Amino acid sequence: MVRLLGEGTFGTVLLVRERSTGSLFAVKVMRKAQLIESGQLAAVTTERAVLRDAGPHPFVVRCESGFHTHDAVVLVLEYVSGGDFFDLMKAHGTLDESAAVFYLAELVLAVGELHRHSFVCRDLKLENILVDAAGHLRLTDFGLAGRVASTSATDTSVTDLSGTAIYQAPEMLTGKGHGLPVDWWAMGVLTYVMLAGRPPFASDGNRSDLHARIRTQQLDLDGDPRTADWAAPTKDLVRRLLDRDVTKRLGSGSGDAEDVKAHPFFEGVDWDAVLAMQVTPPLPP
Ligand code: ADE
Repeated sequence: MVRLLGEGTFGTVLLVRERSTGSLFAVKVMRKAQLIESGQLAAVTTERAVLRDAGPHPFVVRCESGFHTHDAVVLVLEYVSGGDFFDLMKAHGTLDESAAVFYLAELVLAVGELHRHSFVCRDLKLENILVDAAGHLRLTDFGLAGRVASTSATDTSVTDLSGTAIYQAPEMLTGKGHGLPVDWWAMGVLTYVMLAGRPPFASDGNRSDLHARIRTQQLDLDGDPRTADWAAPTKDLVRRLLDRDVTKRLGSGSGDAEDVKAHPFFEGVDWDAVLAMQVTPPLPP
């Protein structure tokens, strides 16, 4: 073991070096007793399934191996060395729109890949987006992911409440079921956070105040000095991703990620080049 990398949703992530090769890996260790106690044993199976089915993909963290010991479940993940997007945002404050286009393009492809395999991520946030040595993204931590019954956007087969408060879509707060479009809502929150340096429905108060804002607060992009200068396609992207009406939300149609990719915000993006990691990252890690 080299050092502690962080705490995932249900476990500890350690940086380890393989003795025989010197290669570095991020090893996620989840205690069985803790998983059983919190009723999260099934979540590990889902996380493993996401890593197996949605990979290998350039923007999804690679899983090299998985096994269990007497008291722990272990996932051996590719080590992504550039830190996470939370730290990147802390260092830069805000991103300009061209940088945001780069990162969001890679993210759309990662989310689209998960959705193609009927997985809803449900925990898209800065902390779960890693940056590799070259500055490309890698989505990680699928401990809260869910499998939907179908990839139809109107499928609301996932009902358990989860995810990080500021990224939760309004339909997750009612407990009536949600599906793939919650990830597009979270991407709307991420877009806003990248460009404004703070969340759209921020609340210094309690959880119920935040929930009320997510459900009802009018988004005023033109009247807020931090967002008023955004280009028209950027404002439109954020408004369309943060549409409380799930059926109208960008990405909720049968095209899923294809509809998001076709939005004018991404005009000029060469998607084949993005997927091939041939677009140069805007920021050094
Ligand atoms: N933190 C969580 N997972 C990680 C990974 N795969 N690489 C680096 N840091 C991480």
